[in-house]
Order: sequence, then structure tokens, then C-alpha cells
Amino acid sequence: MGISIASGEGPSPESYKIVLKDLRQVYKIRGTDGESRRDFLALENFSLNVKEGEFVSIVGPSGCGKSTLLDIIAGLARAEGGQIFIDGKAVTGPALDRGIVMQGYALFPWRTVRRNVEFGLEMKGLSAKDRKEVSQRFIELVNLEGFEDRYPYELSGGMKQRVAIARALATTRRCF
Ligand SMILES: Nc1ncnc2c1ncn2[C@@H]1O[C@H](COP(=O)(O)OP(=O)(O)OP(=O)(O)O)[C@@H](O)[C@H]1O
Ligand SMILES: [Mg+2]
Repeated sequence: MGISIASGEGPSPESYKIVLKDLRQVYKIRGTDGESRRDFLALENFSLNVKEGEFVSIVGPSGCGKSTLLDIIAGLARAEGGQIFIDGKAVTGPALDRGIVMQGYALFPWRTVRRNVEFGLEMKGLSAKDRKEVSQRFIELVNLEGFEDRYPYELSGGMKQRVAIARALATTRRCF
């Protein structure tokens, strides 16, 4: 995926919430002989500036690099090239200022709906009382009231997706 939606004009990069500059990602894949390794270019020359409050959708065919890009923004993968800034600060890894809903949900199978939604709140050190209050708000937001004590295997695919959304929203309301 190669795209540039960052113009040279307009506000300075500091005034943007998210600045993605010339991102490039390369994966090492096996050659046709199954032994040798070669580079596979998944993302090239990707630039995008996002303002506070903007809702951005990245749309493209399967395999074009959307998840690759989101993994880099989340700090789960390091780009091979380019830069990424959030609130003017370079991103060096994952942090609680960014929520992500993984394509495969990535719920903790041993945790109930409530305890999945509370995960990031535990990491933030909230008390049990505050965790329950915040998690309840987001469980209700995604219409999962009454399913708080269910485990992921007891939920439909869409319900799992909604738990993942509630978990991301509960942890941070800054970047999604
Ligand atoms: N770990 C990896 N190793 C090698 N190649 C990879 C790896 N992850 C992704 N790719 C390749 O990089 C390209 C982009 O993958 P990516 O997962 O970003 O696509 P996507 O746009 O999210 O697709 P989809 O809409 O199907 O989820 C694909 O061609 C994929 O095969
Ligand atoms: Mg994907």
C-alpha cells in the first residue's frame, strides 16, 4: 500500500493528533525453494495526518497492508522506515493512549466479558470499584448487559467483537 494524504501546506505537524510520515514495512518471507529468505514489501511511502476528533477509515483490498499499518500505529510492530508521531511525540512502542481492536478479537479466553473489558483498567491501576463502574458503562454501550459473566467461548462472533471494542474504549478514549 502506497498512499500520501499529507499535504505540505496547512497546519504544522505539531497541530495534528497523528502524523504518519513515509511509512514503509518489509516482511521477510521464504523464497520458492522454501529455504532462502526474501523481502516482501507490505507498506511503502504511506503518509497521513489526522486531526483531533477526525474519524478516519482505511479501506483497501485484502492484503494491501491495513493491519500492517495499524500494528505500527499501535506500536506492536516497528516500521522498517518512516516516522510516526502522536501529539508530536514519536511512537516507540505500545501505550495506553492508543486502543486497538484486533482483527482476530484477541480476547483472553480465561477471562469473563467483564474481566476482559477491565484488563487495561487493571494495567492502569484502577480500584476494583472504579473498574466495575467503567467496565459496566462500556459493556452497556456495546449492548452486552447480562453477558458480563460469560466467557468468550460462550459468545457469538459479533459479541466477541463487541467485547474487544468495549475493552479498547474502556482503556482509553484518545486514539482508536
Ligand atoms: N508476518 C508476516 N510475514 C510475511 N508477510 C506478511 C506478514 N504479515 C502480513 N504479511 C503480508 O503483508 C501484506 C499485508 O498484510 P496485512 O495483514 O497488512 O493486510 P490487510 O490489508 O490487513 O488485509 P486483510 O483485509 O485481509 O486483513 C499481505 O500480502 C500479507 O501476506
Ligand atoms: Mg487485516
